[in-house]
Amino acid sequence: MNTSAKHDAWSAGDSYEQYMGRWSRQVAVKYLDWLNAPNNLDWIDVGSGAGALSAAILDQCNPKSVHGIEQSEGFVTHAKSTITDDRAEFSVGDAQNLIIETGSIDVVSSALVLNFVPDKHAALTEMKRVAKPGGIVSFYVWDYPGISVGFMSAFWKAAAKLDDKAEDLKEGKRFPFCTPEGLTELCHKAGLKSVTVKAIDIECVFPTFDDFWHPFTLGAGPAPGYCMSLDEPHREALRGLLKETIGSKGEIVMPARAWAIKSEV
Ligand SMILES: C[S@@+](CC[C@H](N)C(=O)[O-])C[C@H]1O[C@@H](n2cnc3c(N)ncnc32)[C@H](O)[C@@H]1O
Repeated sequence: MNTSAKHDAWSAGDSYEQYMGRWSRQVAVKYLDWLNAPNNLDWIDVGSGAGALSAAILDQCNPKSVHGIEQSEGFVTHAKSTITDDRAEFSVGDAQNLIIETGSIDVVSSALVLNFVPDKHAALTEMKRVAKPGGIVSFYVWDYPGISVGFMSAFWKAAAKLDDKAEDLKEGKRFPFCTPEGLTELCHKAGLKSVTVKAIDIECVFPTFDDFWHPFTLGAGPAPGYCMSLDEPHREALRGLLKETIGSKGEIVMPARAWAIKSEV
């Protein structure tokens, strides 16, 4: 694992829900509206995490089946216990080597995962391999180099003021390819054609500063992983700086943008 990836802690479903799941769910709803896939299809959700996208597919798309494939056993256990729909199945697996038959899936989807996969080309090639002819390969990632996710940007900006090393951990630096051009190029290299890109914007609303800060103390995800690697005085200094800069006026409202990609196979 490279040093910037060492805080990418994915395992505890409840903690993830508070940090990212609640926002990921909002993007999933808009993404599926855009995808506008027919009913009664077989879907996979690559890197399904705690199940945010799978749950939205079940709610919105009337699928025949949804199979979530996720590397973290903790997340798979969480998804199995919270999503009990008979059409859903969750397995531990790797996006770079999918445990799925070639040409068997109508809609291959993935939410906020591709940038974390070490070999993105392998993941996209696998996503294409398992799609049926005429099927869809589609995914979304945060617009890290651009509008990004307001609460992450605010966190890293404050962290970098207190710790030089935090500068290199910012997702915008780690994932510069998360632009329409960068993602389209990755898709083309994996043999995906007729690629379309759509911006999906949401607003992250935190009623209080504690609602903003608490998820960073739960350790699930890169920024929370970094936050919990700090000793108590340094963490308190970071909390204090954030409270002073963004948390002094009550409700905090921040934008977030994801890029959604679709390709017909
Ligand atoms: C930001 S979370 C997104 C989770 C979920 N899709 C959502 O929208 O809430 C990234 C997820 O990708 C998973 N992941 C990262 N690399 C993976 C890989 N090579 N294979 C499968 N899952 C992977 C992580 O374990 C984590 O659950």
